[in-house]
Amino acid sequence: MMAVKPKIQLALDYFDLAPALAMVQQVKEEVEVIEIGTPLSKSVGMLAVRTVRELCPDHLILADIKSPDVGGGEAKMAFDAGADWMTVLGAAPLETVRLAWEEAQSRPGKEMFIELTGIRDILGRADQWRAIGVDRMVYHRGWDEGNLSRSWEQRDLETIQHLVEMGFQVSVAGGLGVEMIPFFKGIDISVFIIGRAIRETPNPAGTAREFRKLIDANWVG
Ligand code: 5RP
Ligand code: MG
Repeated sequence: MMAVKPKIQLALDYFDLAPALAMVQQVKEEVEVIEIGTPLSKSVGMLAVRTVRELCPDHLILADIKSPDVGGGEAKMAFDAGADWMTVLGAAPLETVRLAWEEAQSRPGKEMFIELTGIRDILGRADQWRAIGVDRMVYHRGWDEGNLSRSWEQRDLETIQHLVEMGFQVSVAGGLGVEMIPFFKGIDISVFIIGRAIRETPNPAGTAREFRKLIDANWVG
């Protein structure tokens, strides 16, 4: 049993605002964090962040913009719209990471996360991110690679554990279903990011509660 209980983050990977808002209304009581997914961030922009912020004044909101460049400006954009958290692509130059991190540091309660989609030399780069001061990341099995070729494996657990030991608070994402939660038992997961496994069920709030039960059974906090 670990000392930190992971949060649940609902990922809104929609292309339109209306279904995203309907899902927020159904599930918001069951989760701590609401993510404005990358497709929604692109299609609707920061209006999606502003609107969800109005609906959920007390939730944490993550803008999953996976910023590749102009890190300071994109972080400012997301935070100004009401996001608490935003993501920078792990492939972004270190200058981009540093500028986004500095923007977050300059504002109380704001945080930037490195997003690891597609990054192969994670541990090789992690020291550089830590040297900047970054201490949060999203360990992400990419949507497309998860659908087509890549399953969660023991080596993922080992890498996550290593990152935790380096001082990172690690969120995990990528096709996670309820059955996958015990797989991570024994590791200080900071946040479980869940999208399709909640949204694409007949009873999304009930499914979110199932995730919660498994988290409660495997982590204390
Ligand atoms: C895709 C993402 C998704 O938000 C993330 O993969 C979580 O969604 P799901 O649980 O459906 O995989 O960032 O790039
Ligand atoms: Mg996402």
